[in-house]
Amino acid sequence: MTRGRFIAFEGGEGMGKSTQARLLAEALEAQGVATCLTREPGGTSGAEAIRGLLLDPPGEGWTKKAEALLFAAARADHVARLIRPALQEGRWVICDRFVDSSRAYQGVAGELGDEIVRELHNIGSDGLLPDMTLVIDADAAEVDRRLTERDGGLSDAIGGRAAEYHASVNAAFRDFSVQEPDRFALIYGSGSKEDVHARVLEALSPLLDEGR
Ligand code: TYD
Repeated sequence: MTRGRFIAFEGGEGMGKSTQARLLAEALEAQGVATCLTREPGGTSGAEAIRGLLLDPPGEGWTKKAEALLFAAARADHVARLIRPALQEGRWVICDRFVDSSRAYQGVAGELGDEIVRELHNIGSDGLLPDMTLVIDADAAEVDRRLTERDGGLSDAIGGRAAEYHASVNAAFRDFSVQEPDRFALIYGSGSKEDVHARVLEALSPLLDEGR
């Protein structure tokens, strides 16, 4: 059996990643491709428990290093228990966020640096990388409107950080896609979800054609 493909969706807050991950999984299933739709932090019971600790931290919250370690620990469990087995079974894994979120949020915006984040990923998950990472990047005014509709001004411990932190996250994702054009595709995320979905399918067409 051929190994499945691993696709990650990335981007800052309110870019529409979760919707696009779901639409892609549905489109693949409709074509008869066995898929596994999952998310980070989370995806396994242990990693979902860590998600709760990260997004609603007890007490005074986590230090930068502790936060990065917790994301890496959640990812290690997710990779070993869900992602690698699914790929080995020939399923396509569609993941809402993966290690490039740690690189953008903890590494760049959180100023821990790329080396530390990559090292934690090597230790925790043997450095597994997606076959393709789709960075969704929508116009700022549209993102603000979506976030107000979705969260009504409430957000979790990370979503609620300063505007400069999130601007740095968004810039980091754009930089990644310029630095590694073979592993990333930058998808314009404004417009209807159907329009964005069509852009996602277009960006994945080389991988989809290989599988036929
Ligand atoms: P998510 O539920 O995808 O949030 P949203 O739908 O609001 O984009 O992710 C939860 C939060 O965790 C989000 O603010 C991004 C953050 N995060 C990191 O800081 N590092 C990581 O490695 C991951 C996976 C997420």
